[in-house]
Amino acid sequence: SNTKQSTMLDYWKYFAKGVQYTLIITIIAAFFGVILGILLALMRLSDNKLFHMLSVIYIEFVRGTPLMVQVMFVYFGIGSIIQSLPAITAGIIAVALNSGAYVAEVFRSGIASIAAGQTEAARSLGLSKKQTFQYVVIPQAIKNIWPALGNEFISLIKESSIVSVIGVTELMFQTQQVQSATFKGVMPLFVTMCIYFVLTFSLSKVLNYFEGKMKHDN
Ligand code: ARG
Repeated sequence: SNTKQSTMLDYWKYFAKGVQYTLIITIIAAFFGVILGILLALMRLSDNKLFHMLSVIYIEFVRGTPLMVQVMFVYFGIGSIIQSLPAITAGIIAVALNSGAYVAEVFRSGIASIAAGQTEAARSLGLSKKQTFQYVVIPQAIKNIWPALGNEFISLIKESSIVSVIGVTELMFQTQQVQSATFKGVMPLFVTMCIYFVLTFSLSKVLNYFEGKMKHDN
């Protein structure tokens, strides 16, 4: 009836769709972000000066510019070449390109922290550079890298809210839809904050659990 006050529960489908898109964007972008990040980290660590330089420039530039600008740049930039580029595709590409730079630093610092002390010892035992990297450095570095990758995933759940600026129907965009439909400014935002918090907090608990398990396993 028209006397009934609309409640946020009436709009649960908006929020549910938003969560669905937020998770899809985060999962796909994180996947490609990790692949790109490993590539960039290997380039940065390589003896090839050109690869090293290209990687450093990419990482510093991406980390030194706002994700919001990058999202709009990819959307309008690629959109001007490929007509009818879906916003969600542009959003995923931009978040993946952004995350790759952060993931590269996760791998680089994870590897550097182990390599400093262990490389000389392994090399003096007669292991080749490649063997040292593969059998000594990487297995230990992984222990630092895993938790940091988990944190990057959690960051992406929150940071992906920025793709709402190009009209991708993720959680933040859907929140604005509910604001318009209900003429309520604050309540939809509060609901959305709670949803983001439940997502990130529960995920961090799951990650902590596995992190604890990994510590006892070695
Ligand atoms: N909010 C920061 C920015 O706009 C970070 C974005 C991405 N962060 C990340 N861990 N991938 O530049």
